[in-house]
Amino acid sequence: MSLTIHEHYSLKACNTFGVDVAARWFAEAHDEAEVRQALAAATAQGAELLVIGGGSNLLLTADLEAFVLRMASRGRRLLGEAGGQVLVEAEAGEPWHPFVLWTLEQGLAGLENLSLIPGTVGAAPMQNIGAYGVELKDVLHSLVALDRLSGELREFQAGECEFAYRDSRFKRESGRWLILRVRFALSRAAALHLDYGPLRQRLQVQGIAQPTALDVSRAVCAIRAEKLPDPQVLGNAGSFFKNPLVGEGQAAQLRAQWPGLVSYPAGEGLVKLAAGWLIEQAGWKGHRDGDAGVHALQALVLVNYGRASGCELLALAQRIQADIRSRFGVELEIEPVVR
Ligand code: EPU
Repeated sequence: MSLTIHEHYSLKACNTFGVDVAARWFAEAHDEAEVRQALAAATAQGAELLVIGGGSNLLLTADLEAFVLRMASRGRRLLGEAGGQVLVEAEAGEPWHPFVLWTLEQGLAGLENLSLIPGTVGAAPMQNIGAYGVELKDVLHSLVALDRLSGELREFQAGECEFAYRDSRFKRESGRWLILRVRFALSRAAALHLDYGPLRQRLQVQGIAQPTALDVSRAVCAIRAEKLPDPQVLGNAGSFFKNPLVGEGQAAQLRAQWPGLVSYPAGEGLVKLAAGWLIEQAGWKGHRDGDAGVHALQALVLVNYGRASGCELLALAQRIQADIRSRFGVELEIEPVVR
């Protein structure tokens, strides 16, 4: 196939915040050959190549003088089965949630807790997506990426991806690796992860004592639908801040002052704080500056009520960061890529 290149292309439909900025050049890649064509075209223009998936972890603050490439490659397949483990592969452009549903239809467990996360398969490893007690790193087997420096393909085993909380080597070595396809190690025998309290409680209330992976997926979808805005209805990029890590000493001091503080042990003398709780305590939940707002049901999610610009959303985020810093002495890190 040959690449179709658009100029001065609106990215409004390419980012889940629904921010209306334009890319100087824009194309969709359906396979590796088109990816290579896009790289060559960007190089010929002397432009940066910015690769996007579902645009669900992206805040665009201005027109981009770049070549934006949306990964649109499709394909998912069972690769083989050994020792109870089933290897599944998907192309980077596959939308994440339909892929999760397809694995469940195949009778495979492993991805159910990650149901309904917006975005694509190829973007998932960038920030090691996670929800309801499972992170991508727990189920990823390996992936194939194009090294944009050398033009060679490289296979990464899970252990080589340097996964951490909402982080990976692909995010840190930004602009180097272009993920083409991802393999997952799934299972026919469901070893379900029900550590997240509200998930367990929901299944109990429904009277499901022996849940299947599909039951867990349905419960996760219901919990997400209750708390997280649907980007089709209300622009957002999921959690806008990471949950911050602080030392145990600081956590103890904060707890003495705010007994309701929500925190989780994070190992190595660190404690993870629920940023949503901090932001709610500071009075921001439901706050609105024009069309930029803090979601009324989940304070960690910034929303675009319609025509907010990326700069307005960023300004709101920065006001929240400054307020949390002054009230709690805690630094909130922005989670999406800001451009
Ligand atoms: N909380 C509040 N007020 C709020 C929001 C949360 O007090 O407005 C409290 C809750 O009561 C709860 C705690 O904070 O005790 C944690 O809230 P929740 O379980 O909703 O999860 P989260 O820490 O806010 C993280 C992920 C989500 C993921 C959920 C569930 C990050 C940055 N976010 O949110 O991921 O779905 O856990 O596992 O780690 C995303 O990354 O885009 C995302 C949605």
